[in-house]
Amino acid sequence: MDENQLNILFSNGILVDSSIKDVNISDIDGLINSLKENNVGFLDINTFHKLYDGETSTDSSVEIIKNYEGEISEAKPANWVNYFNDRFNRLKMILMSKDRSGLLSLANIKNMPQSSDVKSIVMVSSVSISPVKKYTVMDIEDNTGSYKAIITNSNQEILEDQVVIINGRKYNDAIFVKDITFPDIQMKEKVKQEIDDAFILFLSDIHVGSKLFVEDAFEKFVKWINGGIPEYSNIAKLVKFIVLNGDLIDGIGVYPDQEKELAITDLKGQYDKLYKFLDRIPKNIKIILSQGNHDATHIAEPQPKLDKTFAENLYKLKNAVFLSNPYQVNLIVGKSKINLLSYHGFSITYYANKIPKYTKMDAEDIENIMKIQLKSRHLAPSHGSTQLMPLPRDYLVIEETPDIYATGHIHKTLASIYKGTVLINSSCWQYQTSYQKKYGMNPDVAKIPVVNMRDKSFQILDFLGDKVQIYKKGLKEG
Ligand SMILES: [Fe+2]
Ligand SMILES: [Fe+2]
Repeated sequence: MDENQLNILFSNGILVDSSIKDVNISDIDGLINSLKENNVGFLDINTFHKLYDGETSTDSSVEIIKNYEGEISEAKPANWVNYFNDRFNRLKMILMSKDRSGLLSLANIKNMPQSSDVKSIVMVSSVSISPVKKYTVMDIEDNTGSYKAIITNSNQEILEDQVVIINGRKYNDAIFVKDITFPDIQMKEKVKQEIDDAFILFLSDIHVGSKLFVEDAFEKFVKWINGGIPEYSNIAKLVKFIVLNGDLIDGIGVYPDQEKELAITDLKGQYDKLYKFLDRIPKNIKIILSQGNHDATHIAEPQPKLDKTFAENLYKLKNAVFLSNPYQVNLIVGKSKINLLSYHGFSITYYANKIPKYTKMDAEDIENIMKIQLKSRHLAPSHGSTQLMPLPRDYLVIEETPDIYATGHIHKTLASIYKGTVLINSSCWQYQTSYQKKYGMNPDVAKIPVVNMRDKSFQILDFLGDKVQIYKKGLKEG
């Protein structure tokens, strides 16, 4: 708001709260008319959003494809069997849509003569690599039994519990594998949509409540989205969705001695502080919130939407959409539809620890782990890579190929592309914790990956320095 607009408001008998000095007003007469119609003599940010930029936007919407509604299941053996059967069957369907010729069950293969060519859809229950790395031995299973498979000269990365098609020849009660087909995602064509620029912002790991929460940078973000900062304001004006991908608060008792690093020591207080920031975001932008391992819920995945007991105030936001972790939705603006898969990212750490070449956990390592997930069509392919709830349905199977796969948790930023699907990891809003220091983890702080819905082009904005600027590290063009 400029000086002239302030004077016009004063001359119309309207007092102004300092909270709205950063907002951008293009139609001052329209604003004054609606203030008068509603008998408003004092204008603060809440009243401004209610009256000026509408209740919520009607030209954008969120269509749910997959969302866990919070059903509970006990971790007993029968439930695990059902869970793994569901996972196997869902992935089997995906594999059969790629190749269904000549498929045999393992029971059939056992009865076939030596040297037969065989092909089967199997779950890999264990993988061991010979000491000289000349071959890999796998225990494989399907609904009819188990068997062994041996791969020589393989440079394929095969991981426990992946479901794949193996194609090979039977010798001495094992299958000597010629090739492996992964369920993998489909190629997404880069299609230009018939809409104007419309942007999605990706934030995660805000960790509100921590002493290390980067409050000034988050404040800068709120100012920017309200048009109060000139750099890249062309993007700010056209943001339609903000994706908040878990670890919204720092939580309590998440890691040893965390209380020493907490500025707010109760969950409700932490969510209330987040609410005060989010309430200042223009109401025509839809904010999608989901949980991570620091939020107030069980750690086993899938995690339900935010708990109203703690996040009561957030539920007052008319532009907020509450979803589970993970979820899959279509983000819609006009005729444009973007399929978004969102997952907080807990299993990524497991693979970074398990696979020696990814232990650096830099942007490229994270990108490669995200590719493993997409190739496996599962967000936590190996059992033990995250804690799971054995529900009758496996919500972590990736049934539809997304336009964007967004994750967080690692506190690193990344924007890249794999087979036409945009890969996003959305940094964090917390300086290095003592826990991260102990493990040599250096977070990327206050970066926001941005995707244009029109053509899926992407960039990363940096809110940490004096100015909002483009951040190049972690950005890879496809
Ligand atoms: Fe986090
Ligand atoms: Fe996390």
